[in-house]
Amino acid sequence: MEKKEKTAEKEKKENSEKEFEKKDFVSVKEAFQKKGSVSVRGWIKRKRELKGKIFVLLRDPSGELQCIILSDKIQKKDFEDLQKNSIEASVEFKGILKEDSRAPNGFELIVEESKVIGESLNFPIQKDLSEEFLLDVRHLWLRSSKMQAIMKIRSTIMYAVREFYKKENYFECSPAIITPNACEGGTTLFPLKYFNEKRFLSQSGQMYLEVMIFSLGKVFGLTPSFRAEKSKTARHLTEYWHLEGECAWMNMEDQMHEIEKMVSFVCLKVAEENPEELKVLGRTPADLKAIQVPFARISYDEALEVLEKKYKQKLPWGSDLSIKEEKLLSQDEKIPFFIYGYPTEIKAFYAKEMPDSKKCFSFDLIGPEGYGELCTGGQREDVNQHMLKKLKKEKIPLENYNWYLDLRKYGSVPHSGFGIGIERLLRWICKLESIKDTIPFPRTMNRSYP
Ligand code: 4AD
Ligand code: MG
Repeated sequence: MEKKEKTAEKEKKENSEKEFEKKDFVSVKEAFQKKGSVSVRGWIKRKRELKGKIFVLLRDPSGELQCIILSDKIQKKDFEDLQKNSIEASVEFKGILKEDSRAPNGFELIVEESKVIGESLNFPIQKDLSEEFLLDVRHLWLRSSKMQAIMKIRSTIMYAVREFYKKENYFECSPAIITPNACEGGTTLFPLKYFNEKRFLSQSGQMYLEVMIFSLGKVFGLTPSFRAEKSKTARHLTEYWHLEGECAWMNMEDQMHEIEKMVSFVCLKVAEENPEELKVLGRTPADLKAIQVPFARISYDEALEVLEKKYKQKLPWGSDLSIKEEKLLSQDEKIPFFIYGYPTEIKAFYAKEMPDSKKCFSFDLIGPEGYGELCTGGQREDVNQHMLKKLKKEKIPLENYNWYLDLRKYGSVPHSGFGIGIERLLRWICKLESIKDTIPFPRTMNRSYP
């Protein structure tokens, strides 16, 4: 008896799978190649009804297709289902694809069979809604053309960086996310109750990547980083994706060269793979193909001079460059550039000091067109005594840094590294106003929903 039921169930499943296959669905993009009779499925992006005809703009991940449904060509119930549903219902259409110069993309589907798969009645996103509302319904807004374009470019970048580092013989490593110590100072740490101990969410995988160079030479990590940022700016998130690299035997100049090659490679990939998406966002592939090595390099001292002479902004030596100054310095540029040789005082404890100066081998990569800091990197302090002195000077409790000091005790080597926020890079590449649009579910001081 039980066996019989099982066989019947199996048969039912196989039949439904056959039914599924029989329709032979193609993506919208494939339909343009195939032409003739096609079956497509996706979501209703736009819908308009006119005297027994329904015009649907169907979207799927590959593109958009204009479809015409005539009341006398399909089953009455199927026509009524379409009438009843709003945008974002999911549908399956079978029909004849015809060339039509008036249609977007030059094709039109004359529908012969229609089925609403998942209904959508009164989709909540209509026109002209506030930014806050769109963040509340982010789970639905991610279907919009703008967000779809950005997320496709984001995916290209994630693949491209891995492709670049594989080509350059780096090893991908996975640093810890739960950490005992700060890497970027105490003020932006998210504490975590870790059983009976206090731990933190990682601000940067740098220190763990430094460990790995002694085994693997050149390493990178692509992981989330967390910053308890209280500032509400267009370039800060509390959770972001951090691309970081660390290389044995590299100095600051070597490291800057690695980064310019990577950024240029990523831009070229996006130009090649996402011309349509760039168009949606107001960029052209040519803008990105122009991002070629070498990028300009100016010293911190030169940056102060430019600010004073060109923009009448006099900053005392030793001040950090804020968003305002980075904007001024980059607003007329089209290609990212480096500022290097910052005062030691304003950079983290691990930056290596230049001999006989108050400057360190540290740099920022500045995004053009006013975008500002994209990346920070530099040569690391590799002498144990110097590192100890720095930690003590900054009153950093040593107990959780002993493992890090061991790296300077056993076979220390000159080395350099960097960290670049994927969202900062994406914000500039996609020419976006706010960093919130670069990540599916932005986390800021005021938002951790949905
Ligand atoms: O400049 P930061 O703080 O440097 C570090 O964390 C180093 N330990 C990195 C390293 O050398 N491995 O952060 C590096 C980059 C910034 O240049 C920026 O692109 C990004 O991380 N970033 C943020 N992105 C979004 N929201 C935030 N709150 C960010 N803070 C830093
Ligand atoms: Mg920085």
